[in-house]
Amino acid sequence: MSRLVIVANRVPDPKEGGATAGGLAVAMKDALANREAVWFGWSGKTAAETGTEAALARHGRTTFATLDLGHDDYKHFYQGFSNAALWPVLHYRLGIARFDRRDFAGYQRTNLAFAQALAPLLQPDDTVWIHDFHLFLMAADLRALGCKQRIGFFLHVPFPPRSVFNGLPHAEKLLEALEAVDTIGTQTEDDAENLRAALIAIGKGDVAMRVGAFAIGIDATGFAKLAAQRANAKEVVRLRDSLGGRSLAIGVDRLDYTKGLPQRIAGFGAMLERFPRHRGKITFLQVAPVSRGDVAMYRALRRELDEGVGRINGQMAEPDWAPIRYITRAVARPTLAGFMRMARIGLVTPLRDGMNLVAKEFVAAQDPADPGVLVLSRFAGAAVELDGALIVNPLDPDDIAEALDAAMDMPADERLDRWNRMWTSVRAGSASIWCRRFLSALEGTTDVADAGQ
Ligand code: G6P
Repeated sequence: MSRLVIVANRVPDPKEGGATAGGLAVAMKDALANREAVWFGWSGKTAAETGTEAALARHGRTTFATLDLGHDDYKHFYQGFSNAALWPVLHYRLGIARFDRRDFAGYQRTNLAFAQALAPLLQPDDTVWIHDFHLFLMAADLRALGCKQRIGFFLHVPFPPRSVFNGLPHAEKLLEALEAVDTIGTQTEDDAENLRAALIAIGKGDVAMRVGAFAIGIDATGFAKLAAQRANAKEVVRLRDSLGGRSLAIGVDRLDYTKGLPQRIAGFGAMLERFPRHRGKITFLQVAPVSRGDVAMYRALRRELDEGVGRINGQMAEPDWAPIRYITRAVARPTLAGFMRMARIGLVTPLRDGMNLVAKEFVAAQDPADPGVLVLSRFAGAAVELDGALIVNPLDPDDIAEALDAAMDMPADERLDRWNRMWTSVRAGSASIWCRRFLSALEGTTDVADAGQ
């Protein structure tokens, strides 16, 4: 079998194993176990200049090939164009995007530097699979360097309607670069439709035909097992004891403005206001590890949350009960799995999200004999599959409040019925199936139109 070359801005640390693995690393696990592979991307470190030659580290059958980013590229490519311009626009937030031509120049330079460092590592029959919004231009750069390999591109985040996307300066350049890609994947059919329409509008109808939807999943049975194993782990027992018999609602998100955290907290506050009988009966634990903390919008969000949580706790708390517990440190994945299993309610209310794997993890973590309820934003890609959730509009605090009230009172048979539907779909759309579907479309065994779901 030919080698698989995965390209993503983030490269997992082979030494850290599953405990901190991101969604992509989990999704790639089976594919990496079965064939020779290269995982290429940023080392996570900065240096005076962006590297020209990748540092190589071998682990099992995978070679990890990484480059340091120069300070300038970190600033303009990563913080600037990727995270202050593209990220908000792709999440429908044109109004908060910050454009600077130097950022776009840094984005072009870094995509090219990645291509130049990867090209010499490629073998003729490699399959190259590029991931996410940091690297829209890289396939075209590889082609310009003479690379003839099959190239796939998967966008993990949403793709907005073209009227939004076209607000981004240089939007057309990003779309044109996709001409170099053989198979283009998005999370949902809505994203695929938006991307196709944007391509067709610039005369790239042929490229639009290579776009398909492939919903990413999790290692469903693996996560379920982890949660069951952790049900009585030390940290989990400590949390349970501290609740004093109250129900737990849990949220787990990177501290990102797309996740709808202030709105979620407002919704929780509205629930306590409108349904006072739940006061003192439920504790909401929000785990929100700081992310991209040196981008201005993220710092502002942190201040907003500190204030919002403080306000609701100040107004509603009793001497022996605080409604919200809020942690901005990262909590280890196995511990989170145990926390989720204990929770009566999972709150996943992004304003916009490509998929949202926390929603699927919450489902997988539940005790099949007594499952909790998922409250899920209609704007998460996961809402297409998880119709057993209580679907809410996160912009409407009363909608969140009513869903929380319904979840608190939901009888066991309804909880079980809803959870069974969700668990069936989480298992059916597992990470390894996602990976196989995309690769069979890219490697030519399935038509892109039939490969997605
Ligand atoms: C999202 C993106 C990923 C990104 C991750 C963490 O899930 O789709 O591409 O790696 O956020 O963000 P960071 O900026 O820390 O890589």
